[in-house]
Amino acid sequence: MTTHDNPASFDQITQHRPALAASCLALIDAQPGRPLAMFAPRRVGKTWFLDHDLAPAARAAGKLPVYADLWLQKVAPLEAINHALEEALDDALVPASRAGKTARTPVKSLGLLGAQLTLADAPERRPLPADPALRLDSLVQRLQAAAGKPVLLMLDEVQTLADGAQAQERIAALRAVLHQRRGILQAVFTGSSQEDMARLLSTVGAPMYQFAQQMDFPPLGDDYLQRLAAHFHRVHPGKQLAPEALQRVFARIGHKPALMRDLVKWASAEGMTDLDAVVQHYLRGAHQVAGFNALLQPLGGLDRALLLALAQGRAPLGRDTLQWLGRVQAEPPTLAKVRAAIERLRRAGLVARTNARGTVIDDPLLADHLLALDPPDPA
Ligand SMILES: Nc1ncnc2c1ncn2[C@@H]1O[C@H](COP(=O)(O)OP(=O)(O)OP(=O)(O)O)[C@@H](O)[C@H]1O
Ligand SMILES: [Mg+2]
Repeated sequence: MTTHDNPASFDQITQHRPALAASCLALIDAQPGRPLAMFAPRRVGKTWFLDHDLAPAARAAGKLPVYADLWLQKVAPLEAINHALEEALDDALVPASRAGKTARTPVKSLGLLGAQLTLADAPERRPLPADPALRLDSLVQRLQAAAGKPVLLMLDEVQTLADGAQAQERIAALRAVLHQRRGILQAVFTGSSQEDMARLLSTVGAPMYQFAQQMDFPPLGDDYLQRLAAHFHRVHPGKQLAPEALQRVFARIGHKPALMRDLVKWASAEGMTDLDAVVQHYLRGAHQVAGFNALLQPLGGLDRALLLALAQGRAPLGRDTLQWLGRVQAEPPTLAKVRAAIERLRRAGLVARTNARGTVIDDPLLADHLLALDPPDPA
């Protein structure tokens, strides 16, 4: 048995955030019918938070959390939500029907001597509607009635809703149910593509416009880093990791807790305390380089050059950048070609458009890797 503050290994260091969960629930409760939408880049801990912090807090507050990963069923996200609700409905009904069978089923006929009982079939309910939007509405009502509590729908990778055919209709249907059933249904959305999520939530004229409350999902803070450092110190009593170095490296790798844990674990295995050197080692490790190469290898020349331009901090559509791309390539590309390349890189998940910094390479370590291969010329 290990206690919270005395983990047996780095892998057991997990950071719960009850205060963040409580403030999410407070935001949701304050505005019935309006979902809370949280954005964070990949691997920052959204799903972990829903699962380990928000769901338990919701249960403790008398709600029934239902989780659906829309990424798993990209082409039919409403069906994915319905599937999750149906599973929850099964869970809510099974114990009741098992315990209550003999006691609750009404008697249809008595034998002549009053000793023979014929049990009636359980009352037939009308089948659920086949249309996914109507089915969603019915499921929410049945689930709430069966569980006797409001339902908190946690939709992970919600930007998927905006993909593909009939996105508008689908979003409108979800919005209508959320609004109509606001007394019994609440929702949290998380997404990892800021651009797609913004498109989903704030496009003027789109049905979700000004509908959701939006919040940036905060990365883990110093508590987590301190606990990693404390365990490092337990393993190496004579050595310490500097708090500033931990913070700097955590920011540099994009606040990814699992990656941070791996880096500190690696530092521990090597007995190193210079975390910046650890990151350099990590970037040059065979495993990591193979991973980066697998990402870069399928790309065409312009796409690769554009990634390098982004790594060097160039504005992708700037005049200088076009000229620079022209020098790297045979001739300067047209603006339209660069736009198409950005779109390809975006679809491949390599770049993301952010509000604050424009188009950026999604993984800061990939940017570091590209810079190490091709440092910007001093000119
Ligand atoms: N609070 C936490 N404490 C410790 N480790 C965490 C925590 N949150 C996340 N992690 C670690 O980070 C990993 C990635 O987290 P998670 O899958 O929740 O990220 P995500 O933002 O949902 O990523 P994706 O965009 O890929 O779905 C987890 O597998 C877990 O190991
Ligand atoms: Mg996730």
